[in-house]
Amino acid sequence: MNKSLRHAVIAGNWKMNKTPDEAKSLVEQIKPYADKADCTVVACVPYVDLAVALEAAKGSKLSIGAQNCHFEAKGAFTGEISAPMLKEMGVEYVIIGHSERRTYFGETDVTVNKRTLAALENGLKVILCVGEYLEQREQGITSELVAMQTKIALLNVTKAQLENVIIAYEPVWAIGTGKTATADQAEEVCKIIRDTIEKLYDKAAADSITIQYGGSMNAKNADELLGKENVDGGLIGGASLIADDFATIINAASK
Ligand code: 13P
Repeated sequence: MNKSLRHAVIAGNWKMNKTPDEAKSLVEQIKPYADKADCTVVACVPYVDLAVALEAAKGSKLSIGAQNCHFEAKGAFTGEISAPMLKEMGVEYVIIGHSERRTYFGETDVTVNKRTLAALENGLKVILCVGEYLEQREQGITSELVAMQTKIALLNVTKAQLENVIIAYEPVWAIGTGKTATADQAEEVCKIIRDTIEKLYDKAAADSITIQYGGSMNAKNADELLGKENVDGGLIGGASLIADDFATIINAASK
């Protein structure tokens, strides 16, 4: 394995935070850091903030993402947003399968796969989230579970399409809890995901795919987590809403 083959990606998942005016202001604050960074920087914002975030990020290196997309292109799906809608706006990334979608909105491995395929077929880059609940870790089934989530999510995704996929390992017990996985725990599971990619595709695909850690990553712990061989970036919730903290994480990934 060779970390230098891979590109570091730091993505903020703003979740259900920031009105359009607030989003404009935060994008303005983050932009200069993205421009200086030696890694890709993405802000995944609420749907209603996309237009203003895209406009504010114009001319900078900051990429804009959404936090979900539906698997159908159009139709009777009240409240949903499709991949072609995002693409036409100029959105570049979309988070798929976040544990909050799985836990609160009935997302399953099968719908995660369908959404992943729809996003890729429409030219979006996917940040695909996998991760275990605390009970599952305590039962000792983390590796099987994360491998299974990865396999099902990537069913029928071609090797060429995989180039537009980032996988985010987000242990559910570490999200928004302040309980970060240790760097060794993050490394262990990111390696399991990489090995799963090698089995599904090949070594070249496994060596080149970007795998992020997410779950209470912050300005203090980013250095250690991002220093691990198989941790190529971060998906950051709370700390992505504070420009200075996000900047520190971007700097840690740029080393
Ligand atoms: P926190 O960084 O707030 O724990 O959230 C992580 C996350 O869920 C990112 O998608």
